[in-house]
This record gives sequence, C-alpha cells and structure tokens, in this order.
Amino acid sequence: MNDDKGARPRAIAAQVLDAVLHRGRSLKAELATALPALADVRDRALVEAICFAALRQQARADAALRAWVPRPLGKRDGALRALLHVGFAQLDPLGLPPHAAVDATVGAARLLGRAHQRGMVNALLRRALREGLPDARADAGWPAWLRDRLRADWPEDFDAIVAASASPAPMWLRVNRLRGSRDEYAERLRETGIEATTGEALADALRLHVPVAVAALPGFDDGDVSVQDGSAQAVADALAPPVGSRVLDACAAPGGKAAHLLERDPSLRMTALDVDPERLERVRETFLRLGVGEDADLRVADGADLEKWWGETTGDRFDAVLLDVPCSATGIVRRQPDILLHRRAADLDALRATQARLLDAAWRVLAPGGVLLYATCSILQAENAAQVDAFLARTPDAAAEPLDARFGRVSGAGRQRLPGEGGMDGFFYARLRRR
Ligand SMILES: C[S@@+](CC[C@H](N)C(=O)[O-])C[C@H]1O[C@@H](n2cnc3c(N)ncnc32)[C@H](O)[C@@H]1O
Repeated sequence: MNDDKGARPRAIAAQVLDAVLHRGRSLKAELATALPALADVRDRALVEAICFAALRQQARADAALRAWVPRPLGKRDGALRALLHVGFAQLDPLGLPPHAAVDATVGAARLLGRAHQRGMVNALLRRALREGLPDARADAGWPAWLRDRLRADWPEDFDAIVAASASPAPMWLRVNRLRGSRDEYAERLRETGIEATTGEALADALRLHVPVAVAALPGFDDGDVSVQDGSAQAVADALAPPVGSRVLDACAAPGGKAAHLLERDPSLRMTALDVDPERLERVRETFLRLGVGEDADLRVADGADLEKWWGETTGDRFDAVLLDVPCSATGIVRRQPDILLHRRAADLDALRATQARLLDAAWRVLAPGGVLLYATCSILQAENAAQVDAFLARTPDAAAEPLDARFGRVSGAGRQRLPGEGGMDGFFYARLRRR
C-alpha cells in the first residue's frame, strides 16, 4: 500500500471533481481553493492534470462504471464516483505508472473516509488496466443543445471543434513591453530552460513548447510577463485605439486586455468597469503587478446602467470602447472543460440579452468617429455574428470595419477563430465605427 504522500493528491483531485461533477462548482474556483493545501508544486500539477483529464473523458469513465458496477452508484457515492474518475484518468489518458497510480488511488479511498470501498476501487482500476476504458463518441460529453447549435453553426468544422476542445491548451505569454522586448524575455526563458516560439502575427506573444507553473516564469511577480492566450492578445490589435485617447473597457475583469492596451500605450486615459466588485479588485491587482494604469478610473458598475456610472455628461465620450462581454465561453472548453457540464441552453438567452444591453449602452458613450470592439470567447453565432448583425440593423450610425485574416475567418460583420486554430482559443471580434 502506498503511503499518504501519493494518496493525498488523488484524494484532493477527487474532492475537486466531486464538487465539479456533483455540486455544480467551477473547476477553476475549486482548484484555486484546493491547490494551496499542497506544498509540492509537482503534486499541484498532478491534481490539475488529473482533474482536466478526468473531465475531458468523463463519458468514457461513466461508460465503464455503467458496464462494470452491478448496482448504479447512488447520490451518496459522489466521492467514490469522483475517485474512480481520478483513477481511470491516471491510467488513460495520462499514462502514469499503473501500479503506483492504482495503489495511491486506493490509498486515497481511505483518506476520503471510504476505506470500506478500497477493494472495489482496486478491482475497477485493475479491470481498466486489463481491458482499457470503453470507447465513447468524441462528442459524448457535450450537452445535446450545444451539439445541435454547433452542428448548425459550423457543420464542416464540428468534429475539429470537438477534438480541439478536448486537447490540452498551450500556454501563451504576453511580454510587458514596458519592461523589455519579447526577444529579451525569450532569452531569459531559454536561460531558465523554458523553450518558446514567438507568435508570428502577435507582437507581444510567446508560446511555450511545454506549459510551466506561473511561479517558474522569470520576473512574473515583477510584472515582466502575463499568461494570456493569443486570441485574447489579438484584441489590442483589433481595437488599436489612437495614442493618448479615452478608452472604456466596459467588462474589464480580471484586466488582461486593458493592461495589454496600457502596456502598449501608457498615455491612454482608461476607464475600466466590472459589475463584480471582487473581480474589479483583480483588475487593480493586475495593473499594480504590471505597473500600468496608475491614473485609470476603475469602477464597480453595470456597464449598461449608464445613469449609475456615466450620467450623460456630454463631451466626455470615449474614443474607443472594448466590449469583451460575458458569454457562453464555448471557445475555451479546452481550458475550462466543466463548461460542458454547467452551461444550460437557457443561459444563452440571458447572455444574449446582456450582450445586447451592453452594446446599446456602450454605443451611447462612444464619441462620433470612435471605434467599438465587440469580442467574445464564444463560438456560437447567436452571441457573435447574429448579435452584431442585429445591433447593426437597429443602429443607423454604426458601420462594421473589416478585420484581416489574423483574426480568423469572416463571420457576418466580424471574424471568428475556432478553438485550436493557430494554437489559440475560439474567439470572435467585430470592429464597429460610429459615423
Ligand atoms: C470575458 S470577461 C472580461 C475579461 C477581461 N476583458 C480581461 O481581458 O481580463 C467578462 C466580464 O464582464 C463582467 N460583466 C458581466 N456583466 C457585466 C455588466 N453588465 N457590466 C459590466 N461588467 C459585466 C464579468 O464580471 C466579467 O468579469
């Protein structure tokens, strides 16, 4: 029997998964709470890898349990089910040394107060080792409503979307130009043994060959670099506000894109809003770490509630607005696999209504001649091309401006990148000029 050292990360992974699978909790939030309990960075990385792998192949693990467990696991067996998913994921796809993985997972059963079920865990994991997990359709983990919508929106790309969404995402960095050049930072990485490729069309981007812990990035705490997907970095190019102009980021938290704009041009006069006070605090922390936005106006506000935060004071409209709206996040399933568990069809109606409200309000505070960038990490046309088309139809002084192929394929008045294209997240961009 393995000692607690190997069992503990497995038990923690099972607790995280239990909360995500059975109590509707977010993977990101659960990991953020659970990981600090582990002192060893390798244990943290292991828990993370297990949870991601288990969620990505949830359908196969469930098929195995249906076939191999005579009596279906009940509501009170949530922790056991989660632990079995943890066990299966270590064997396939993670391919950890099987005997150590099985022993440590059986040991975790005891830590979870399931000592009496150790025999069952052991038997099921050994069966998985012998027979392999049953196959499942690649899209088996996708809710039917989302599958249907994606098939309708992207009939030719559906399989590629599913495959890319099930693959681990690369780690992209954004080098803070105020602190040094991208080449200099790539050299610092190399000296630390971290290999990176420069993102061709993205001036500040580096893509790591192998993801590392953020703490391993030289100068991270000093603000020399940020972790940010290439798709998100492209926003600064798509908006490209005039030097020194007044910019509104109406949905700013945690502040990555606003900070990028300020790294490029510290003379921008930035107003950053977020409706969530805790998340707005993260914008403050982001700016502080990166040494930007000292004079930025940060406000907790519903961007659509102009009377509360803007007050119709004429003459102080914005030259550029970034509207990185709340969305289904269907373009980043590879980074947040639990989206497939938690997202409901009804969420989409509410999100679409919020997006439309934000668009209409942001337009009112955009100066004539100014530019608004509407952006989402969604791949659903309802939130993207159709949302922007409807806005253009009801807004006579709005005109879409073309974006080039760096931003993905043409989709309505904007551009869409599907997940995995160019190694990036799925993302939508539409650039709108006020006449
Ligand atoms: C996609 S995230 C923004 C990411 C951010 N632009 C960045 O790059 O770090 C959307 C944000 O919109 C905020 N939000 C949602 N509804 C809002 C509203 N009505 N007004 C302002 N912010 C809102 C959410 O709290 C969330 O932080």
